[in-house]
Amino acid sequence: MPLAVSQTPTIGAEIRGIDLSQDISQENVEWLEAQLVRHKVIFFRDQNIDPAAHLGFARKFGELETHPVNPKEGFSEIMVLHNNAEKPPSGTAVWHSDVTWRAKPSLGSILIARKVPNVGGDTLFADMEAAYEFLDDATQSEIKGMKAIHQFAPMRRYLIESGADAERLARFDLDYPPVLHPLVRTHPVTGRKSLYVNALFTVGIEGVPNDEAKRLLRNLFATAVRPEIQCRFRWQENSIAFWDNRSCQHYATADYYPNERLMERVTIQGDQPF
Ligand code: OGA
Ligand code: MN
Repeated sequence: MPLAVSQTPTIGAEIRGIDLSQDISQENVEWLEAQLVRHKVIFFRDQNIDPAAHLGFARKFGELETHPVNPKEGFSEIMVLHNNAEKPPSGTAVWHSDVTWRAKPSLGSILIARKVPNVGGDTLFADMEAAYEFLDDATQSEIKGMKAIHQFAPMRRYLIESGADAERLARFDLDYPPVLHPLVRTHPVTGRKSLYVNALFTVGIEGVPNDEAKRLLRNLFATAVRPEIQCRFRWQENSIAFWDNRSCQHYATADYYPNERLMERVTIQGDQPF
């Protein structure tokens, strides 16, 4: 039987005793699903799997997404995150949950490290259920029922960098208009509430004047930065992090420039937040 070793009381666990290069049993898939929901992010070490096995593993948990930026050649469902002296780390060094600009943001992401800097480049994770519980009663009732506006806009920069022309950009604006999600999300498996706004993609609140919304959002974003609700993962080559995008946020520390870091992500489709 595999084993889950907790990193902190509420977030993060390392999974031991499972080899992801082998076809894993349905029993283990269900066990991993339960660990993911319970710990919000699970980690694996020394999983020397190729892109096809990465995709095969991810498919056990649902349909896969195709991300509009930086697909891996020949594997449209793998997104490449590559930084080095020419491409300084930046975009993911902001607390966020993935693709909340989609009407149905991802259930989870499975990220594998292909090349890691000798030091630095850790990823941090924040428990957004704990963040919600940390809010005082007045704030919890203030945000109850509110809907936030999430927008693809910050991703446009990557599209431009990857050579997208005006027509392609216009197409993206059409394909991904701003979406509304509740500020307080209910986890579809556990029924637990979490704070569901993030500093990367959340730009406003429906029906709330901009200044006021920005002020409130700033305070809500700040909840993710409390060390008490976080865990931190030190990567090695062939380490994997699999996070529950419905209940946690993450932050890629941009401290390793000009060293190289190469990661590949597969993302599992999720459902509409409620
Ligand atoms: C991601 C992401 C974090 C990292 O893959 O969605 O934010 O540490 N990556 O590279
Ligand atoms: Mn991310």
